[in-house]
Amino acid sequence: MEKTQTQFEKDVIKGLIDYPKHLPSKYIYDQRGDKLFQDIMAMPEYYLTNCEFDILSLHKTEICEAFSNDEGFDLIELGAGDGKKTKILLKELVDKNYNFDYFPIDISQNVLDELTKSLKQEIPEANVYAKQGTYFDVLSELDKYGNRKKVILFLGSNIGNLLHKDAIKFLKKIQRNMQEDDVLFLGFDQKKHPQTILNAYNDDAKITEKFNKNILRRINREFEADFDLDQFMHWETYNPETGTALSYLVSLKEQNIKIKKLDLQVKFEAWESIHIEISQKYDDAVVEWLAAQSALKPQKSFLDQKGYYKNYIFKAAKC
Ligand code: AVJ
Repeated sequence: MEKTQTQFEKDVIKGLIDYPKHLPSKYIYDQRGDKLFQDIMAMPEYYLTNCEFDILSLHKTEICEAFSNDEGFDLIELGAGDGKKTKILLKELVDKNYNFDYFPIDISQNVLDELTKSLKQEIPEANVYAKQGTYFDVLSELDKYGNRKKVILFLGSNIGNLLHKDAIKFLKKIQRNMQEDDVLFLGFDQKKHPQTILNAYNDDAKITEKFNKNILRRINREFEADFDLDQFMHWETYNPETGTALSYLVSLKEQNIKIKKLDLQVKFEAWESIHIEISQKYDDAVVEWLAAQSALKPQKSFLDQKGYYKNYIFKAAKC
């Protein structure tokens, strides 16, 4: 009897049969991938985390005032991760006695368990209700969160993993669930010197390479495949015209890969690529265009000291 395929299985088969080949970056994040991403956030080249940390530290008072509401509010974070940045806001909210509940959402149960544990120690006053799932699972449930004001956080320029058309679909889905008072708070990595961007995704210590190759390692483990990680190289590009950074794994030779559990053989030509990730960079014009396409109104934006990164507050345009 055929067993039903998981989404991961379907995506791997589709992506490796396609030409050119591609795999969705969300599958990098197993336990090892989560850890490697934390290592990336700690690297000197990966400026995004520090810039957003600066913005939140500098503007926490104003940001939390924009979140607040007399009846209290629900703070819903998509892709919460280790919460390092969110904790700045949570501390401020607790210190100023705001009435709120925190709902961190992440695809990784692992990450959520650690976050919940660390919050219990560091900010025990906060009510934390972690939920495991993809952004889209959660968005379809947003209306179940009740009638309090909703504040939706999407930090880290995670939106940059989406092509503009998918970002618009995603933002529209959020917008449709927003009431007049609700707030959306997003982080957008900005266009800047192309070398600065390339360096962030092409570190000397090769952590980003390990991170990207983790998707092959995961396919090896979960589907009994025989990818030789040393026969692929990490390749990053940045196009300053479109603001798009792309990461690839490139096959160093002609090779045949067997993926036993998927009953699949994949042929690679020498120098054939697998596209893994998009990390889009933005400017005000593009953010305003995305917002307009999604019936969102930018209310305010906050820039870091280097001018590398921006956070924006949006409300729904029609209500
Ligand atoms: C978590 C999607 C924002 O694209 O900058 C970091 C992931 N990939 N280094 C990004 C990532 C390689 C990161 N996001």
